[in-house]
Parts: sequence; C-alpha cells; structure tokens
Amino acid sequence: MKVIKDPKEMQHLALDARRQGKIIGFVPTMGYFHSGHLSLMRRCRKECDWTVVSIFVNPLQFGPREDLETYPRDLDRDLRLAAEVGIDVAFVPEEKAMYPPEYQTYVEVTQLTRGLEGFYRPGHFRGVTTVVLKLFNIVQPDFAYFGQKDYQQLKVIERMVQDLNIPVRIVACETVREPDGLAMSSRNVYLNPDERRAARVLYRSLEAAREALKSGTTCSAGLKAVIWGVLSREQMIRPQYVEIVDPETLEPVDRVERRAVVLLAAFVGQARLIDEGFLEMEP
Ligand code: PAF
Repeated sequence: MKVIKDPKEMQHLALDARRQGKIIGFVPTMGYFHSGHLSLMRRCRKECDWTVVSIFVNPLQFGPREDLETYPRDLDRDLRLAAEVGIDVAFVPEEKAMYPPEYQTYVEVTQLTRGLEGFYRPGHFRGVTTVVLKLFNIVQPDFAYFGQKDYQQLKVIERMVQDLNIPVRIVACETVREPDGLAMSSRNVYLNPDERRAARVLYRSLEAAREALKSGTTCSAGLKAVIWGVLSREQMIRPQYVEIVDPETLEPVDRVERRAVVLLAAFVGQARLIDEGFLEMEP
C-alpha cells in the first residue's frame, strides 16, 4: 500500500488511475479504525478497481470546546489495518497542506444542516462538506463510502453531491455494531468500563421504539417518550436530543406512517455519542 501525504501527488496518481480507466473507490475517515471503518474499506475494495482511504482529523469540523486535541489517533495501526484489507493508497495529509494560511474557501449545505447535529455543533457540517469536497477533488473517486451512523452527515453529503453536480456515487453503508448493539465509533474509546456498560441503552432505546411501533404506537411523541424512558433509567446517560424525522428531508414527523428514522445524541461521561435507527411500518 502506498502512503501519500502530498495532495498534489495524490491527485496526480488519481488522475492517472482515471486515465487508465480504473474505477476509483474512496473511504474518507478520521482514522483510529474500528470494524465499521474496516467494513467500509472491504466493501470499497470489493466493488472498485483502485481504492483509497484518507486519514485526516479535520480541524474545521470541531467546535472550540470539542475534542480535537484528544481525538484518538494511531496512524501506524491504521496503516497496517488498511494494508491488510488490501487498500491501494492511504492518503494522510497534514493540516498545513489541506488548509495553508491563505485558505479562504468553504462549502455549506444550508437547510439539512440546521437541526440535530447542526444545532448542537454549529459550523460542524461546514467543516465536513468543505473537507469532503476537497478530498473528492484530490482523490477523484467514482464511488465514496460512508457509514449510516452519521446519518445527517450522509444526507448532507448526498445533497452537496447533487447540488454541485459532483461526479461521485455516494454509497451508504449500514451501521456496524458491537454484539450488545453499541454503534462502533472511534469515540467509544473514551468510555470507562461503567460508561461502556451504560452506553448499551442507546441501542436498547431504539429497539424499544421499534417494539412500541409494532404494538401500535405510531405518534412520534409516544415513541420519543418510550426512548427517553429507556435512556433515563440509566443514570450515566445525559441525552441531548431524540428526534424522529423523515429519512430524506430530516424534518420531524408527527407520526410514523411508512418509514422514519430516529436520530439521537447523548453524553456518556465525557463522550458524546450519536446513533440512528429506522422505524418502519410493517405492510
Ligand atoms: O465521518 C467522518 O469520519 C468525517 O466526518 C469525514 C467524513 C471523514 C470528514 O472529515
């Protein structure tokens, strides 16, 4: 596996691969790989001729009181794991190469970013869309793979791709979970053993909402009450938001009529975790 730091060299290589008619697959990440990342890379490898993973902790998407400094990093381990999956190139730019002092261009999706994560993390999605567009321009992918755990991020990126006519296909991949249901996240490393045990209720609360829907509760207020009820039984959890929204517009729905998605965020100790779960009416 080639390891490239310089954006120009990466772009050169990608344009070359394109000229050779290769289908380029791309997995953008902030590193500290877990099974979720590995499953994105495996799928990318299976579906594309030439595969690139980027590892870049993007400062632009962290707020001033967020965990940029402490965000977990282990580049050597990440490179070893990506090579084991069979990825062709790891792109690992430095901050000054991505954002030199004269940098002044940003990309913003205006509406989908207003609520949910966008409300609690102002500026976050502007940082995400800016770096993702830069990465797309550098890596020139035909297909780019994103996890569904960051559901709002996925929808925001799909919107950007559509609005700006970017020639890349976004591939949404299911959330990979621990055996007890906790969604894989690099931030899970912040949890001490008690917090890790408590964090199971996030998934349990989603399961409880699915059960309640099956038993006939279709109004969002009732379903959200079920979720809050499960979360509040665990003292270590401090939920930030629980919303039931339309899977495309991310607007809150009053009632689950066909398909909706629950999006939630909660603090467990110092860790801020998010999760998602579809609610579907059985036909
Ligand atoms: O989901 C992530 O890891 C990041 O938000 C991304 C898409 C790599 C952009 O920095």
